[in-house]
Amino acid sequence: MAHDSAAVYLRSIKEPETFWAQAAEDLHWERKWQRVLDDTHKPLYRWFTGGLFNTCYNALDRHIENGRGEQAALIYDSPVTGTFKTYTYRELRGEVACFAGALKRQGIDRSDRVIIYMPMVPETVIAMLACARIGAVHSVVFGGFAANELAKRINDAEPKLVVSTSCGIEPGKVVHYKPLLDEAINIATTKPARCIILQRPQAHATMIKGRDIDWHDALEDAQPADCVPVASTDPLYILYTSGSTGFPKGVVRDNGGHAVALKWSMKHVYGMEPGDVYWAASDVGWVVGHSYIVYGPLLHGCTTILYEGKPVGTPDPGAFWRVCSQHDVRVLFTAPTAFRAIKREDPQGDYIKKYDLSGFRALFLAGERCDPDTLQWAEQRLGVPVIDHWWQTETGWAIAANCLGIERLPVKPGSATRPVPGYKVQVLDEAGHTVANNKIGSIAIKLPLPPGSLTTMWKNDQGYKKYYLDPYPGYYLTGDAGYMDEDGYLWIMSRTDDIINVAGHRLSTGAIEEVLASHPDVAECAVIGAADELKGQLPVGLIVLKAGVDRPHADIVADVVRNVRETVGPVAAFKQAVVVKRLPKTRSGKILRGTMKRIADAAEYQIPPTIDDPAILDEITEALGQLGYGRHER
Ligand code: COA
Ligand code: AMP
Repeated sequence: MAHDSAAVYLRSIKEPETFWAQAAEDLHWERKWQRVLDDTHKPLYRWFTGGLFNTCYNALDRHIENGRGEQAALIYDSPVTGTFKTYTYRELRGEVACFAGALKRQGIDRSDRVIIYMPMVPETVIAMLACARIGAVHSVVFGGFAANELAKRINDAEPKLVVSTSCGIEPGKVVHYKPLLDEAINIATTKPARCIILQRPQAHATMIKGRDIDWHDALEDAQPADCVPVASTDPLYILYTSGSTGFPKGVVRDNGGHAVALKWSMKHVYGMEPGDVYWAASDVGWVVGHSYIVYGPLLHGCTTILYEGKPVGTPDPGAFWRVCSQHDVRVLFTAPTAFRAIKREDPQGDYIKKYDLSGFRALFLAGERCDPDTLQWAEQRLGVPVIDHWWQTETGWAIAANCLGIERLPVKPGSATRPVPGYKVQVLDEAGHTVANNKIGSIAIKLPLPPGSLTTMWKNDQGYKKYYLDPYPGYYLTGDAGYMDEDGYLWIMSRTDDIINVAGHRLSTGAIEEVLASHPDVAECAVIGAADELKGQLPVGLIVLKAGVDRPHADIVADVVRNVRETVGPVAAFKQAVVVKRLPKTRSGKILRGTMKRIADAAEYQIPPTIDDPAILDEITEALGQLGYGRHER
């Protein structure tokens, strides 16, 4: 039945408690909530307080009890290892319950933290769901981060146990995870008591006696564990994401509200029915992987795909279409950068024609703004709706989208369409007033955020308030800038902070700057995100050397590039830096990163009135020109 999206949206804003209570009825509650929305600790809100809930029960057991036991729950498709494996709901529950038993045997209990530093293998999903089953709190760390970043997360989450592996597989290379884990634990001030290590055939990890246990040994004789009902408001997971400082923010997700929002979104945002096959081609280390590889599809009784491969090169730009056709995927969700990579290698879309995509209904894109060219290319080649939708780690699901399960609205390439039910989005000026249509401003969401969004930062309510709530009282600050047009469509244009988006991966320039600044020859530095055709943005470093340093600049640049790879990780894709004599600053000493970015992108810019010496901008233009950025003159 078609619905009027404006009416559904209005109902969600006017009667949020009725709206979400109705959605919550689709799930199993061990004990029903007492309050749908608890505002007793404003501006911190809680959903479904008093309720007892288990996310794993709702993602697995509930479906088995309702006759879906033999349906595929998870399809592992790994072109990099040549492996396929399907788990039915019954099989997946069996594996999860046993691993949950293994965790319990290692002393993991309700609300203990478990860090999962793993690649795209089924054991990662099993470990996440096993934590959820016994009420433990997982924190998955993306495999492309290096030891230092992992150590920061260990220190903050204080896990009792880490689940990891011998290696991940990237095209053409084996990435050894275990040495990185050992180094991280070495650096960390909090030490986990145990590590469970999955030995993959591609590499053997050296085990540390007394601390490390082989995955299979941990499972031996483990008794399957039952689901432990937890408070709806208890944390399900912590997911660290880049903030404007070098220290990541620990986004906390609850159990009940999260499940309600994700299940609702599967039907209403993506138009999925239980039994359909859904594929998020992302990584479990990112929020997209948490929400739409693991929890969303399983909560909705869909089949989810865990793909260990790339959009191109594994083996060719037809990889996505092979997967869609082979597994009868209804909806694919990925990042625009993946499509730019495919488009570059298959401009005519010849590989698309090789596969039967008759069951394919829609492509959703997020992670960065989708440039209209890429969107239109995909639309024309695929002949299905291509939907750019906007969200962030903090919200856990879409803030703005074209909700296919409610009413398909016309697509405006470059816009993420309209706010999704539950999100009261407003564009504000510096004083906190709503700006007129088509006027750019800071995008904020009026509190309370809907279920599923972050409830706070891990052990840091003050930080949550300071970064997100204090700037505009009564609102949550998204950190994005953009505008709303006369049709209520949102146009997300840029970040208002120092976060950059590299191949759909969110990175903090502050974290990279910290590494550059720690080089003994570097006096000061700045990192900017320069526009890149494939990855959206690439980090570029500008460094000023200490007086008297006479080493060749190329050596220093090579040092800092290596240091970033080793400290932040290869995912930062930091490969370019240039030595400059000085950095442009305001008279109060603030580095003008925004102006340097505009120079790199050859965009028009105004000389900031507060700049201490405008001549520096010519030097910066020259230096960035050496790296191939900008247009060499102003
Ligand atoms: N473990 C270890 N290393 C990893 C890794 C992981 N899980 N993921 C990426 N890396 C490494 C890569 O091997 C690469 O290393 P290199 O510098 O030695 O080549 C580096 O990190 C950068 O990786 P990536 O960003 O994947 O770039 P790429 O050049 O290998 O591939 C794309 C480019 C566009 C194909 C790729 O970025 C892509 O598929 N992006 C989709 C992003 C996405 O899904 N984002 C999630 C939000 S929806
Ligand atoms: P992450 O938390 O890693 O998911 O990154 C979230 C950020 O990515 C957002 O705050 C935006 O800056 C950007 N982003 C994600 N999706 C979109 C989109 N569809 N359009 C524009 N920017 C996006």
